[in-house]
Amino acid sequence: MKKQIVVLPGDGVGPEVTAVAVEVIAAIGAKYDHALNIEYADIGGIAIDNHNDPLPADTLQRCQAADAILLGAVGGPKWSNPGATVRPEQGLLKIRAALGLFANLRPVKPYASLAHYSPLRADRVANVDVMIVRELTGGIYFGDRVESNELATDTCSYSADEVRRIVRVAGGLARTRRQHLVSVDKANVLATSRLWRNVTSEVMRTEFPDVELEHLLVDAAAMHLLQRPADFDVMVTENLFGDILTDEASVLSGSIGLLPSASINASGVGLYEPIHGSAPDIAGQGIANPYGTVASVAMMLRHSFGMTDEAATIETAIDQCLEAGHLTADLVRDDTALSTQQVGSALCAAIDAL
Ligand code: IPM
Ligand code: MN
Repeated sequence: MKKQIVVLPGDGVGPEVTAVAVEVIAAIGAKYDHALNIEYADIGGIAIDNHNDPLPADTLQRCQAADAILLGAVGGPKWSNPGATVRPEQGLLKIRAALGLFANLRPVKPYASLAHYSPLRADRVANVDVMIVRELTGGIYFGDRVESNELATDTCSYSADEVRRIVRVAGGLARTRRQHLVSVDKANVLATSRLWRNVTSEVMRTEFPDVELEHLLVDAAAMHLLQRPADFDVMVTENLFGDILTDEASVLSGSIGLLPSASINASGVGLYEPIHGSAPDIAGQGIANPYGTVASVAMMLRHSFGMTDEAATIETAIDQCLEAGHLTADLVRDDTALSTQQVGSALCAAIDAL
């Protein structure tokens, strides 16, 4: 198979973790005889530096023409002074909107071999397997903003159609899993949440009668995710709540550096990225955790290319390397920690050997 992949390394640790992912892509291409071609483009702060634009037209064009996109991370203190009107994050929001990537899939399935790195008791984390489906192109992220020194306004709006299409994605996933969907909102306060709740109930009742639906308020959901994480199967929620809940859920696994994500549109084109940020505090040191980015490559192969065996090979290699204790400094805080690059070499060796 021949595929064109645009890699957007971005800022901070982004270039370090995507470098490992590119090695893994090469190892898979060689093993399975696929032409997985890589091209690079700028996004975020580096794109502001090089082109004065967090999403240059050239980057967007390449992404539109590609079979899939892999992103590292965007943002950093260099571009975050309060007066800045152009921000790295705008590049990411623009590409999500431009490609219509409305469905963000964030699986949280802590690795058994790392259970003792979770701040929760091992028995609470055992059997956790949650798929959080975050709406990604609507809500307060994309509403009108008014900003002055004395008053600021952000607008949250959702249409019924925006809710319907994300609930259909979540319902479809729940159907292939444990037939249980939790929809998270703040319907006791927000009008958008009442619309969300009504539309979700209607879609699930008429189109997914085989899937059990539960509604939770976001504050309670935040608590239940820590108290009884194993009870959740698929969760669906709006953009901002999903951003917050997925960072929270990542803690269950021991490190946010482990978690992958897929952002997909109606035609299956996807942008894949670890859920962590640019981590400017550790950027350039070669110590970032590349597992979340590599797991994102597995999601790319499965969702965008239908390469089930290849994806499984990556996931098995990840399991083996974690079991062998090939861990970065976010997990092991002593001199046994491996560098980003060393983890990459271990992963490629494991892939070759499988
Ligand atoms: C994420 C990030 C982004 C978001 C930022 C960088 C704009 O936190 O992908 O979760 O809030 O969506
Ligand atoms: Mn986030």
